Amino acid sequence: DPIAPPDLSTCKPAEITPGGSETVPCCPPVMTKIKTFKPDLSIPLRTRPAAHQVTDEYLAKFKKAQAAMRALPDDDPRSMVQQAKVHCAYCNGAYPQVGFTDNDIQVHFSWLFFPFHRMYLYFYERILGKLIDDPTFALPYWNWDSPVGFPIPDIYTDPSSPLYDKYRNADHQPPVLVDLSYGGTNDDVDEQTRIDENLAIMYRQMVSGAKNPDLFFGHAYRAGDLNTQKYPGTIENMPHNNIHIWVGDPTQTHHEDMGNFYSAGRDPLFYAHHCNVDRMWNIWKTLGGKRKDITDTDWLDAEFLFYDENAELVNCKVRDSLEPEKQLRYNYEPAPLPWLFTKP
Ligand code: C2O
Repeated sequence: DPIAPPDLSTCKPAEITPGGSETVPCCPPVMTKIKTFKPDLSIPLRTRPAAHQVTDEYLAKFKKAQAAMRALPDDDPRSMVQQAKVHCAYCNGAYPQVGFTDNDIQVHFSWLFFPFHRMYLYFYERILGKLIDDPTFALPYWNWDSPVGFPIPDIYTDPSSPLYDKYRNADHQPPVLVDLSYGGTNDDVDEQTRIDENLAIMYRQMVSGAKNPDLFFGHAYRAGDLNTQKYPGTIENMPHNNIHIWVGDPTQTHHEDMGNFYSAGRDPLFYAHHCNVDRMWNIWKTLGGKRKDITDTDWLDAEFLFYDENAELVNCKVRDSLEPEKQLRYNYEPAPLPWLFTKP
């Protein structure tokens, strides 16, 4: 059977490290009325731009929206604090599985990874749009699969901006290029070597090592399953995890903010990182062969709960997220795919 939506009333403190004793409260406000997700075809198509080349006009809008989200009271489910907790709750063991209460819901390390984060971004983006009364607002993506996009995008690094987060690695500020295989230590290679290595990783994770849905999406994860027996898909495993660790602040106990699931959603850069992860899903489906969505109904019918732009609780299924232009009304500004032609 598919993973069922959580029962919010059973939410418990989240574990900062899985199985560890240190906990943090991540439960969202409980609401008993739950709507069923329906695609809203009346909303304009939104195009997510590459973060390193946004216009001044776009940046002004984005900052205004992010500032408005930060200004909401902490108990509003649309606030920055609560949005970060959504991720924490689904990732750090706050929700027991309904009917299998010894096992918690975990949206990483399995086939739930791509669709969960897609819907999470969708609601986050709609909330930002609503806060500035602009239904065309779209999140930017961090174009980390291309050399021009390797550094942290500049718009996130101005300490006076609402897009800034102070808990990041001080040694990894622009113009330092991201290391897509970062494991916690800097190997000081020259720029050309970094570029070649990063592009080779992208080729492997998207093309040669991701020839079928199981490899790309990760292991099947069904109701009652223990998540620890699963494995992640290629992109989730690398570079997604590595980028989290590369951005997080190593002087913080748990590599806050980006370096731990419980705190990652506190950094606005998280959402740009995940937009590019999400973009990779779209691109992968265009690469041919068996690169298609999973057809197993235990995947298609897995369900999550999110708060929408009106602070109402919505139930979404994985099948609601597969065609973003049609179902969610967004797409990505195209960018070159240099890794596609760099077969190692
Ligand atoms: Cu839910 Cu990038 O992690």
